[in-house]
Amino acid sequence: MSATALAKRTTITTLAARKGGEPIVCLTAYSASLAKLLDPHVDVLLVGDSLGMVLYGFDSTLPVTLDLMIAHGAAVVRGSTQACVVVDLPFGSYQESPQQAFRNAARVLAETGCAAVKLEGGVEMAETVAYLTARGVPVMGHIGLTPQSVNTLGGFRARGRSVDEGERILADAQAIADADAFALVIEGVMEPLADRITAAVAVPTIGIGASVACDGQVLVTDDLLGLFTDFTPKFVRRYAELGPTVSQAASAFAEDVRHRRFPGPEHVFAAPSKAPVPETAP
Ligand code: KIV
Repeated sequence: MSATALAKRTTITTLAARKGGEPIVCLTAYSASLAKLLDPHVDVLLVGDSLGMVLYGFDSTLPVTLDLMIAHGAAVVRGSTQACVVVDLPFGSYQESPQQAFRNAARVLAETGCAAVKLEGGVEMAETVAYLTARGVPVMGHIGLTPQSVNTLGGFRARGRSVDEGERILADAQAIADADAFALVIEGVMEPLADRITAAVAVPTIGIGASVACDGQVLVTDDLLGLFTDFTPKFVRRYAELGPTVSQAASAFAEDVRHRRFPGPEHVFAAPSKAPVPETAP
């Protein structure tokens, strides 16, 4: 990415300064074409590992690979010019050690041109977050309902229902903020807990199924557009219903093809009309 391109983008410093200020707008993007449409409207484009479920049809985010995240991350960077692009580190690419996390995060930054990585986890990941940030890798944290831990959490249920669990999640948030993450996604927790975390930590919180009091909000774009309909979590507001529109367009195309109404004369390359033959000298 050129220096001019970098200069135009929202930076992590700008985002960090939005704590308690104008809410941060974040949407997921997985492709250059969608990134281009979303870019003028958002502060952050998150290349989330939710792409495993949304785009690839997996049951969870666990099968997503680093190469997949890099390919989609690079596409989103190419498709955008303004938003701060953050790419998820997938399951298994950072939990082993701070060194493994650095190696893989460095690949993500170098090969996609994104501004930061996001990783899931609390107290147990704080050392890794500190290791990365001290070595030039900006990190967005992700606590609460952390989908990569679906097997240990026993499902995708909202968290922080008991006092003990709430205290643990608050400690997770504090540990990740203290490790110098520049922002913190809070997913699927009780609203009062999200409010407490937002008041307690010095970095912006970005909620999804959390609280309107968070310093920003994120949604999965395919949920917001009504394109991903396998299930709709309680915290999603659909801003469009594109599912039926896609279906109608495909059906109209099929009808036109079957009745030889497509392509029309305007869609084909007709033979060039005969050019006048130049007169030749006798
Ligand atoms: O993977 C993702 O899309 C995410 C958001 C839901 C926060 O992590």
